[in-house]
Amino acid sequence: MTGEQQYWTSRPEAGARPDEVTLLLPDIEVVLQTDSGVFSAGHVDRGTRFLLMEGARPPVLASELLDLGCGYGPIACTLAMRSPESRVWAIDVNERALDLCRRNAAAAGLNNVIVAKPDDMPNDVVFDAIWSNPPIRVGKAALHDLLTTWLDRLVPGGAAHLVVQRHLGSDSLARWLTGEGWSTQRRASRKGFRILDVAAR
Ligand SMILES: C[S@@+](CC[C@H](N)C(=O)[O-])C[C@H]1O[C@@H](n2cnc3c(N)ncnc32)[C@H](O)[C@@H]1O
Repeated sequence: MTGEQQYWTSRPEAGARPDEVTLLLPDIEVVLQTDSGVFSAGHVDRGTRFLLMEGARPPVLASELLDLGCGYGPIACTLAMRSPESRVWAIDVNERALDLCRRNAAAAGLNNVIVAKPDDMPNDVVFDAIWSNPPIRVGKAALHDLLTTWLDRLVPGGAAHLVVQRHLGSDSLARWLTGEGWSTQRRASRKGFRILDVAAR
């Protein structure tokens, strides 16, 4: 999408332009509906695909998982398929993205995806693990607030798995996380993307 409208707005003004993309992984092939006004509507983002290819696998046992900033749902749907016993919470501020994510999970027959606005998340839910292609472009202060809010809802021993572009500050984000008490390891690095594994503090 163009830079005229930010994809993290709650109600995108761009007129509807429904489209679809195929998420193709070694273990998964799923067609996902997209639209204008949401992140990476024309193709599954390369960083997202990298996270799903090389990032941590979700636990087999029933767990509470979070896709932070779900967009139209490529991460949430993959987690739900790979960990059918788990509940996958998919949150976003963009209502068009939430609607697409809900529809994509339903079309894939996934009844273990719960799509919600951040403010509608029950306060007592904590997460065994978080996956995110986080909204770096919201700015450093907002990103730090966002990560603090959700990383502090990891259970002890839990972890977050983030994909961040190097030129958008992956390495300084890793330093900030470690400095704030979330021990952070670079799990993988390819073509300008880093996958960061972040331990609960
Ligand atoms: C880089 S996109 C990733 C989208 C999707 N996970 C994917 O991989 O295609 C980041 C997402 O975070 C969402 N976002 C921005 N601010 C947020 C916030 N405060 N809380 C939750 N999600 C937010 C954006 O609307 C956007 O959909």
